[in-house]
Amino acid sequence: MKKPSVFSFLITLLLAAAVCIQGREPVKDTDGNSLMDRTKYFIKPANNNGGGLVPAAINILPFCPLGITQTLLPYQPGLPVSFHLPIGGKPPVSTSLPVSIDFKSDIWPVCTEFSKFWKVDDSPSASEEPAVLIGGKRFDENSHFKIEKAGEGEGSNTYKLTTSYGTVGAIPGGWIGALQLIVTNDTAKTLLVKFNKVDDATTTSTSRVEKLGLRMFPFY
Ligand SMILES: *[C@@H]1O[C@H](CO)[C@@H](O)[C@H](O)[C@H]1NC(C)=O
Repeated sequence: MKKPSVFSFLITLLLAAAVCIQGREPVKDTDGNSLMDRTKYFIKPANNNGGGLVPAAINILPFCPLGITQTLLPYQPGLPVSFHLPIGGKPPVSTSLPVSIDFKSDIWPVCTEFSKFWKVDDSPSASEEPAVLIGGKRFDENSHFKIEKAGEGEGSNTYKLTTSYGTVGAIPGGWIGALQLIVTNDTAKTLLVKFNKVDDATTTSTSRVEKLGLRMFPFY
């Protein structure tokens, strides 16, 4: 009787070790499908019932680079983003994998000298909780974000974004209190997100939504 139990104990141990080493699982969108790279998604903040994420000016001078803000318009889904895997990475997008994120929009009236990739402000003038900015470089350390699970059961398919500088959070920004994306170690500020796939069949209405949202761009 003793041998099998030691044996199964070892198997359990090995399985646990394998899970620890892997620790990765496909990220799911709001429909429960695996998140694919180079595909358009809206990032929907799950902390509140506000709108989606949009690029926005976070300083008057210099105006560029832009930061990222949650629009105050509740029905505005924000601008779509897409995810890019590291070199050699195979889809789908998994948790704990460093990915880069860029906004996907044909309409981009300002700060055109900057890329549309997200990055953490790691400049010497950055605040203690540095802003998430637009203008990153796909393979730079400051442009790497990991998607981590933030909810089970009811809150499943809810995630947070982490960086090597801290976790992506949101604080009231300069523009009439709209939430602005920053990096923080304060868990109370963590931004919870869901990924809503942009329906290809509604591309025309999506661009209408984009135009509508971008009317005020970048002053949300
Ligand atoms: C978060 O904590 C880590 C480790 O102590 C530190 O390196 C990092 O600068 C902190 N980030 C912020 C935004 O406070």
